[in-house]
Amino acid sequence: MPHLRPLLSQLTRAIGRHSAEVELKWMKGTLDNPPSGIRQSCRSLEEMVARRAAGEPLQYILGSQPFGPLELAVRPPVLIPRPETEDWTMRLAETLTPSPSRPAKILDLCTGTGCIPLLLCHLWPAGSIHATAIDISPDAIQLAKENAVLCGITAYGDASTQPLTTPQAKNTFMPILADLLHPEFITQARLEPPYDLITSNPPYIPQAEYDALPASVKDYEDIQALLGDSPSPHASGAPAEDRTKGLTFYHRIAALVGGHGLLRAGGTLALEVGAGQAPAVAAIVQAKAGVDKIDVWKDPWGKERVVVARR
Ligand SMILES: C[S@@+](CC[C@H](N)C(=O)[O-])C[C@H]1O[C@@H](n2cnc3c(N)ncnc32)[C@H](O)[C@@H]1O
Repeated sequence: MPHLRPLLSQLTRAIGRHSAEVELKWMKGTLDNPPSGIRQSCRSLEEMVARRAAGEPLQYILGSQPFGPLELAVRPPVLIPRPETEDWTMRLAETLTPSPSRPAKILDLCTGTGCIPLLLCHLWPAGSIHATAIDISPDAIQLAKENAVLCGITAYGDASTQPLTTPQAKNTFMPILADLLHPEFITQARLEPPYDLITSNPPYIPQAEYDALPASVKDYEDIQALLGDSPSPHASGAPAEDRTKGLTFYHRIAALVGGHGLLRAGGTLALEVGAGQAPAVAAIVQAKAGVDKIDVWKDPWGKERVVVARR
């Protein structure tokens, strides 16, 4: 297509010829056939290419990201779901077997787009899962609600709004705006423990690693979604040395699970971890969460990626 040549050249200068060809095709495909229900932020190919050449992640430009069989809406500053998270969520869905006669109550902490609980809601049989999803970011909670609608999952408005009916034969999803590090978190979020499954992909990048991230991440994705060092030293119960290793949120989650009965006996805790963090997170969970069986799952690239514990 000769009229695309200047755009292809512009994009090639930014990301290389092969990627430019592939991405230009996707951009054109999205403009020609916008995915239904996903708000588009670009009106022309020129705008898409200019944004991409300036370093913006392709997913934000297209407005969507596949996550298993789902197509989720994404937009800045909410974290773009990563393939490693998709991989372990699919594995978790195969490992546990909730059913409408034994429905699972799940709690997803730091939900972002809602990707983890929404995929579980999609994959498990209707009426077998009731998910509560927490995030501190109003942008994330808004996007998670929109994604529930996109995925056809019954979403509650917020903790204070009950649905008109509670359909027993449906999987349900309740996104709640709350701060996991707040001392009164459980009351603030109106949680109703115990849960059968607690999942989380919390912020886990230490400050030193964050500083070295590319601008395509730092300029677009929320620092709150990435940085795992403690913004407020006393909130998490993490010792000082762990507050600079991206481990703040694991201390908080483990203490909530162990000290507040968040997880029922026989329940599962699944925590995504960053590079090299699995042994430290397993030790934190062992010491604080009152769990007895701990496994570490690797991602498809051979990295230790998830600490899975059972009570
Ligand atoms: C690494 S992102 C994960 C998002 C999503 N679960 C995923 O896997 O793509 C971490 C999320 O934690 C949220 N977050 C950060 N601090 C929080 C806090 N104190 N309480 C609740 N959520 C928080 C961020 O807003 C962000 O959406």
